[in-house]
Order: sequence, then C-alpha cells, then structure tokens
Amino acid sequence: MSQSNKPQRLRRSQLAVPGVSEKMLTKAASLDVDHVFCDLEDAVAPSAKPGARQTIIDALNGLDWGKTVRCVRVNDATTEWCHDDIIAIVEGARENVDTIMLTKPFDASDLKFADKLLSQLEKKLGLKKKIGLECLIEEVEAMKNVWEIAHSCERLECLIFGMGDYAASQGMSVKDIGKATYPGDLFHYPRYQLTIAARAAGLDAVDGPYADFSNPEGYAEECRRALTIGMVGKWAIHPSQIAPALEVFSPDQEDVDLAREMIAVYREAEAQGIGSVNHKGAMVDAATARVFQNIVDRADLIGM
Ligand code: COA
Ligand code: MG
Repeated sequence: MSQSNKPQRLRRSQLAVPGVSEKMLTKAASLDVDHVFCDLEDAVAPSAKPGARQTIIDALNGLDWGKTVRCVRVNDATTEWCHDDIIAIVEGARENVDTIMLTKPFDASDLKFADKLLSQLEKKLGLKKKIGLECLIEEVEAMKNVWEIAHSCERLECLIFGMGDYAASQGMSVKDIGKATYPGDLFHYPRYQLTIAARAAGLDAVDGPYADFSNPEGYAEECRRALTIGMVGKWAIHPSQIAPALEVFSPDQEDVDLAREMIAVYREAEAQGIGSVNHKGAMVDAATARVFQNIVDRADLIGM
C-alpha cells in the first residue's frame, strides 16, 4: 500500500440515515457506530432534498455524535443538487461535518469538481480542518476508471462498492440488493478491483448495502467476504446491522496478541541477521510480518 498521511478513521460500520428523518438522525447520534452518513441522495425524494439539507445541518450542529465520523452523502455531479448540497452542508455545519460522500462518479473529473468546491469553501469560511471525501463506485464507467478515481485527489479517503446501482449499471439480473450468488460470488470481480485500487492509493475500501436486514447470517457472510479481500467495513442500512459488522471487522484479541508476538519474533530474528524462523511450527518471515502488521494497525486504530 502507498504511504498515506490521510486522517485514519474507523469505518467498520457506516450507517445510512435518511436526511429527512429527524427521528433516525437523533437515533443515529445515540448509537455506538464508527461512521454515519446522513443521506441527501436516494433515501430522499427530489421534492424533499432542499429541506433535508437543513434537517441534516441541525442534526450535525445540535446532536452529540461522540466519536462517530459525521459524513453527508450528496447527489451526483450530473444533478442540479450536487453543488448546492455541498455548499449548504459545509456552510451550515462547518467543522461539524467530517466528510462528504460523492455518489455515482464516472471518472476522476467528478472527484476533482468536489475537491475544488470543498477547497473554495474551506478558504472562504476559514475552516480549521480539512473535510474528507469518500466516493461510491457504482457505475460500470467508474469501475473501468477506478484506478484514476482512486488517485484523483489528496482529499479522497475511501472508496465504497455500491452494489445496488452497480448491478443496475451492468444490467445484472439481481432482485435483492447485496445478495451475491452467481454460482460463486457475483460481486467478487468488481469488489476485488475496487479494493486493489483503494489499497494502492492508500484509501479505505468499504462494502455497500445489504437490504435484507432481517437476515443477519447473510449479512455477516458478506462482511466476511469483504474483510477477507481487504475491505475495512460495510454499510448498515438498519441499526441491527451495526453489531455484526463491528464483530467481523474487529480482529479477535487473541489474533492481535498472536500478531504482536509474531512481529516481535520476526524483529528479533532480523536483529540477529536471520530472515525466516520457525515459531511454534510455522514460518515467520518478512511477508508474514507484513500480514500480521495489518492486524496490529487495525487493532491500534480501534484502540485494542
Ligand atoms: N438510522 C437510524 N435509525 C434507524 C435506521 C437508520 N438507518 N433504520 C431504522 N432506525 C430506527 C427506527 O426509527 C426505529 O427507531 P425506534 O425504535 O426509536 O422507533 C428503530 O431503528 C427500529 O427500526 P424498524 O422499525 O425496525 O425499521 P423501520 O421500519 O423504521 O425502517 C427502513 C426500515 C429500511 C425504512 C430504515 O431502516 C431505513 O430507512 N434505512 C436506511 C435506508 C437508506 O438510507 N437507504 C439508502 C442507502 S442504501
Ligand atoms: Mg447508489
């Protein structure tokens, strides 16, 4: 992975909250979740979008969000709402918004547009902190351009696989958003591409929604698939999906202890000029240490 000086934020669970619902926004602020995105896009009808901006601003300014990352999902750059969404939210919430999530980009120019607009607003308002950018990859064009999107601007922190719109964009035959049988895993190829691009650019890769919130086992299985290929979290569309995501995307304490032990063993061997050693019947070398270092980095971020 490329070295990154981006803010390190937890994204094991990203909760979607319709920006029109004061009740759900209030509930979201009370939950122990890494990240909440207040939605101005698909969960808000066109006629309600302008009003939802103020509802979100009031929630960001008025509620105690604790350590939760406060994100706002805005409409895409082809719509008449995108620029007003970003301007209204940043001017209204200022330092109380941490990141903006851009929807449906096609190529890097969409990200560069949002990046420039945010830079102008930060300058105009004299903001003390930089607002982060996250973006969905949910169009086939974006998947083809995922590498250039990942490297589009320094502000970008995270790529999210939006499988609902992506399935539609590719013309896939699916009925339930997030369920991915094929015969194998229908979303393996796009998820994998996205994760490679994200890692190479020093970004977090996050998995999108699973609509059937009364199927916790199906949801957990999708979390495990995402974790295995290098993603750091998954969306929750309902509060009941937060706990399973936190469970899957947090390493077990014994795995963390083992990782720290393996790295210590490797460092000791390295100091003695030895490249690979036998530790309890398993080989430990530089590559092993790197894999274990990922677990330790996650544990440090979580505070384990
Ligand atoms: N964020 C915050 N609170 C939520 C929530 C969410 N995404 N989804 C449900 N809740 C709250 C409900 O308001 C309810 O609160 P209460 O116990 O204080 O009354 C509680 O959690 C239980 O909700 P439940 O009755 O089981 O669900 P529902 O019928 O109210 O809502 C959905 C179901 C699917 C409509 C709702 O979860 C939702 O709108 N999810 C987000 C959809 C979205 O953002 N989609 C776009 C991105 S994919
Ligand atoms: Mg979408």
